[in-house]
Amino acid sequence: MNYIGSKYSILSYIDEVIEDFVKPKKVITFCDMFSGTGVVAKYFKEKGYNIIANDIEYFSYVTLKGIVENSDELKFEKLEKKRIDPFICLNGLNGKKGFIYKNYSLGGTKKGKFKRLYFTDENASKIDAVRLKIEKWKKKKIIDDGEYYYLIACLIEAADKVANTASVYEAFLKEIKKSADKPIRIEPLSLTLKNVKCDIYNEDSKKLIKKINGDILYLDPPYNSRNYDTNYHILETIALYDNPKIKGKTGTRVEDTKRSNYCLKNKAIIELEDLIKNAKFRYILLSYNDEGIIPISEIEKIMKKYGNYKRYEKRHKRFKSDNSKEVKKNYTIEYIHCLEKIIV
Ligand SMILES: C[S@@+](CC[C@H](N)C(=O)[O-])C[C@H]1O[C@@H](n2cnc3c(N)ncnc32)[C@H](O)[C@@H]1O
Repeated sequence: MNYIGSKYSILSYIDEVIEDFVKPKKVITFCDMFSGTGVVAKYFKEKGYNIIANDIEYFSYVTLKGIVENSDELKFEKLEKKRIDPFICLNGLNGKKGFIYKNYSLGGTKKGKFKRLYFTDENASKIDAVRLKIEKWKKKKIIDDGEYYYLIACLIEAADKVANTASVYEAFLKEIKKSADKPIRIEPLSLTLKNVKCDIYNEDSKKLIKKINGDILYLDPPYNSRNYDTNYHILETIALYDNPKIKGKTGTRVEDTKRSNYCLKNKAIIELEDLIKNAKFRYILLSYNDEGIIPISEIEKIMKKYGNYKRYEKRHKRFKSDNSKEVKKNYTIEYIHCLEKIIV
């Protein structure tokens, strides 16, 4: 998924920094506090670390439960007993005119005040049919929790591939683009086989930090004013499937309690310091780029209060939808601020 701030392309850089700064020797607990797509958590799980992964967004939590927490290949035993292959079954379903169709396709919205073209009619109704089927299997106990989250994670990934957006959901395109015109296909996502401990959370970092401890705390909070809840509102609705009240041209969710303090200039610094102060982890690594709303000097100042500080940096290709006209350079500098915490 083309996710704002995804660290997919710099995983080995994060790893190199850890090798240099932490020099891990034994099995350790790695916490990915702002996990998003879960790529960082998954990468370190594959390396054999015990994992704590968290994100405030429910669609991210579902992905973490589905593809990070699940260890062995899922068997779908009860479905298999009925000779049902989940993917053949889901891909073969006829569309249903449910919430996604009624609110985010042209066919579903043509009589309303706002016409929305996030998905073709066929794909929107297919998303509804698949989501409803997964829920039905769960209700009838034909799939267990792990299988349930895994299938929704696969649906989220598949829906994102056929979304008619430039990349995020704060707007849709006027004409259906080529990739959005293709029929949606639910594909199995890869799983790691390592059997390590994984704890997955769906909490505000400020609360969670008081309940956990470990060795490495990796922080990758939002770095600008772009909130994830509005940018990914449709994925959140597919995950929750809760028939929410929605508003305006883009149909964002009305109830919006997850605005991150890291997106607010006047709150981000306080929020970060609070997190570092309360962290019961020896090593804290913070990914932040040179265009983030917290100045680098402030981060350094905060971290130095709590122990030994070191900063690493690397050029990183800019996120696709950040290419607005007024921005000239096509890269950002990705810093990793490292702290060995002395005052724990
Ligand atoms: C820069 S993204 C992380 C990207 C992730 N490292 C990846 O590679 O996919 C920041 C994430 O922080 C989450 N977030 C924002 N505020 C949060 C908070 N207070 N507590 C927990 N998660 C939060 C957002 O939902 C978003 O997924």
